[in-house]
Amino acid sequence: MSRCLLLLVGITLCAAPARGESPAERGYKFLTEKAYLPLDFDQATFDNVWKTWPEPLRAKAEAATADERRALAFERYGLTPRLDDPTRPLQYVVNERGEWIMNCFACHGGEVLGKTVPGLPNSRYALETLTEETRETKLLMRKPLSRMDLGYLVMPLGTTNGTTNAVMFGVALMNFRDADLNLVKDRGPAKMTHHDMDTPAWWHFKKKSHLYIDGFAEKGSRGLMQFMLVPENNATRFRQWEPDFEDVYAYLMSLEPPKYPFAVDAKLAERGAAAFNRVCSSCHGTYGQEETYPEKMVPIDTIGTDRARFDALSAAHRQSYGESWFGHYGQQNTLTQPAGYVAPPLDGIWASAPYLHNGSVPTLWHMLHVDERPAVWRRTSVADYDREKVGLVVETFTELPPDAASDKRLRREYFQTKAFGKSAAGHEFVEELTDEEKVAVLEYLKTL
Ligand code: HEC
Ligand code: HEC
Repeated sequence: MSRCLLLLVGITLCAAPARGESPAERGYKFLTEKAYLPLDFDQATFDNVWKTWPEPLRAKAEAATADERRALAFERYGLTPRLDDPTRPLQYVVNERGEWIMNCFACHGGEVLGKTVPGLPNSRYALETLTEETRETKLLMRKPLSRMDLGYLVMPLGTTNGTTNAVMFGVALMNFRDADLNLVKDRGPAKMTHHDMDTPAWWHFKKKSHLYIDGFAEKGSRGLMQFMLVPENNATRFRQWEPDFEDVYAYLMSLEPPKYPFAVDAKLAERGAAAFNRVCSSCHGTYGQEETYPEKMVPIDTIGTDRARFDALSAAHRQSYGESWFGHYGQQNTLTQPAGYVAPPLDGIWASAPYLHNGSVPTLWHMLHVDERPAVWRRTSVADYDREKVGLVVETFTELPPDAASDKRLRREYFQTKAFGKSAAGHEFVEELTDEEKVAVLEYLKTL
């Protein structure tokens, strides 16, 4: 796999992970340079995708230079330039043959204040629109269709940009594997409850012992490989790739949240800390000098947030995961019937808008003001950041505007909290704060 350059003096330079790099550095390289999935599309397809865009965007792209056009395409699909190579997106492996292959950062690498942050949830990823438009481009160019195009996963990919149906991809694919991950074909389709989720921030990984919003799976390197369950990857490959994912595990353990880059009112934040410690810490832990994280499971009716995700994953699915190679054949702790959702750590929370597991709440101010949460909202600026409300810059609506109702790609830019799995209700613990305390807690949250 390694792309090595043999120098005359006999030293070998490698683009792929090399000895001497730390496990975490190798983990990052595996994620960004090694293809674990089949090809999605090639460079020529991506370079021509603008031909499928609606006007006036298409005309703008037609008149643009190649670099400007790439920037427009990155913006449309929620791709962000790599810190070490701005011509390539963080979210796809792009190899020397110009092949684009999705990687974990598609969902787990985002941007805040115009800066790419690996591990930040990708709140703009437009997977469904990207898949549709590259498929149309391939048809225009008479190119063969790929795995995603042909729909091994005949299912919605994500009905709101920035969120995906990722959990159900896992359920669908695991259904056709036995405990050793051999492919089995004689099974009927799995029961599906499609719903979209916002990705959690990766820098919380080190604080957790169990993963996912319902905390059902004990943390481990094998579990990180579920994303690769496509039929092209056989059981042997998973075993061959396990050492790579031990490095990916080390990479996840090494991540730190980004720091809030603007001034903070320290006195106000201090008052916020006191209120936070009174009302919020029992679930979300403490920060600063004494870090604690209780990893508290909150019963589903107590938390009151959307329960589609809770209901969608069956006890049978959780059990088959736990009894499989992923769960070390039952040696890991797997909760087949978790009680609800686990309160996440809040480190770097200023950066990871939108909020709640389904990404239904655009700012921290809206988290603290339950009755003010918008019914429908849409991001209006990619680069801007709302410093007052702390989070995304959005416009809000009481219902979906008619132009979006009749255009599915435009509709994906709107978050509709009345749609299935997208409720912004619940988490009313914040009402224990006075109005003054809410102002102070908002300030304090910037410091985490
Ligand atoms: C298509 C989007 C998508 C891709 C690609 C993806 N993930 Fe995720 N990931 C998610 C979502 C959504 C969740 C939340 C699932 C839940 O809580 O039920 C998640 C959760 C996780 C978690 C648990 C985090 C926590 O705090 O509980 C880890 C770890 C993780 N993913 C690692 C990976 C790795 C490693 C890859 C690549 C091999 C990957 N993911 C690829 C969407 C994605
Ligand atoms: C009884 C436990 C509990 C208390 C008390 C509590 N929370 Fe939470 N909190 C949760 C749970 C569980 C979630 C995840 C809910 C979901 O995503 O559906 C959550 C989610 C959040 C989120 C969104 C996190 C994200 O990444 O999207 C924020 C912000 C938050 N809480 C802030 C607070 C603040 C501030 C307080 C105190 C005023 C507080 N919480 C009190 C349990 C609690």
